[in-house]
Amino acid sequence: MTAPGAVVVTGAAGDMGSALCRAFAADGRRVFGADVRRCAVGGVAAVEVDVTDRSAVFALAEQAATEAGGLAVWINAAGLVRTVPTREAGEDDWHRLIAVNLTGTWHGCSAALETMISGGKGGVIVNVGSLSGQVGYPGLHPAYGASKAGVHQLTKTYAMEGARHGVRVNAVAPSVLEGSMGDTFTDEQKSRLVRANPMKRLGGMDDVTGVVRFLCSDEAAYMTGATLPVNGGSFMP
Ligand SMILES: NC(=O)c1ccc[n+]([C@@H]2O[C@H](COP(=O)([O-])OP(=O)(O)OC[C@H]3O[C@@H](n4cnc5c(N)ncnc54)[C@H](O)[C@@H]3O)[C@@H](O)[C@H]2O)c1
Repeated sequence: MTAPGAVVVTGAAGDMGSALCRAFAADGRRVFGADVRRCAVGGVAAVEVDVTDRSAVFALAEQAATEAGGLAVWINAAGLVRTVPTREAGEDDWHRLIAVNLTGTWHGCSAALETMISGGKGGVIVNVGSLSGQVGYPGLHPAYGASKAGVHQLTKTYAMEGARHGVRVNAVAPSVLEGSMGDTFTDEQKSRLVRANPMKRLGGMDDVTGVVRFLCSDEAAYMTGATLPVNGGSFMP
């Protein structure tokens, strides 16, 4: 039985986005997978959207709500990373990382909130932040951590506004995960991260999807504005 209301996932062609699409589709939800690349998850409506294009993101929210009889869940998982020593970080990458990770998430939060308010049934937004938004790491472009700290902050502002309209807004902050983004780290960097991690492993996509599904469920009905660490204990804020 398909639950009422669309689930929109941005970054849906990526490792985390496609894992989220699979999980929500398996729950019987009507899922819209948005990405600049094609989301190939079976049973998911693939929509080509660049999250830096504000009007395209608003159109996506409208389309999903119209086709599914409302917008229930919006997950901002589109993102980019650049592994580069801090002193070599360039300006073009700065602007691109901020545009996709931070501005793109803002577009998603605002489009989802407006559409959920119009629908009158509340909703849930989950932003994908990062451990990099909580601690410094000199092997990544500084814009990555700055953009993710911004995502954690956006989550609080949209949670405050959303609470007036029955919309909950939370974030997850994963550490480096197994997958293509994690593979931008060298093997040596990854082994160092594993050694420093209390659980002695990198996370997997399923470690994150479980937490996101919880945040989207009624089990989390009294949670908003939270940024949940999904990091094996490597940072305990
Ligand atoms: N993988 C990790 O180690 C890790 C750790 C912490 C946080 N994160 C965050 O998790 C999210 C998902 O990462 P992932 O591991 O799936 O990476 P990924 O590279 O596999 O997927 C990211 C997806 O975002 C899409 N994307 C990039 N720019 C876009 C744009 N302008 N518009 C629409 N889509 C765009 C890409 O095409 C890609 O499919 C990202 O926000 C990332 O910063 C990842």
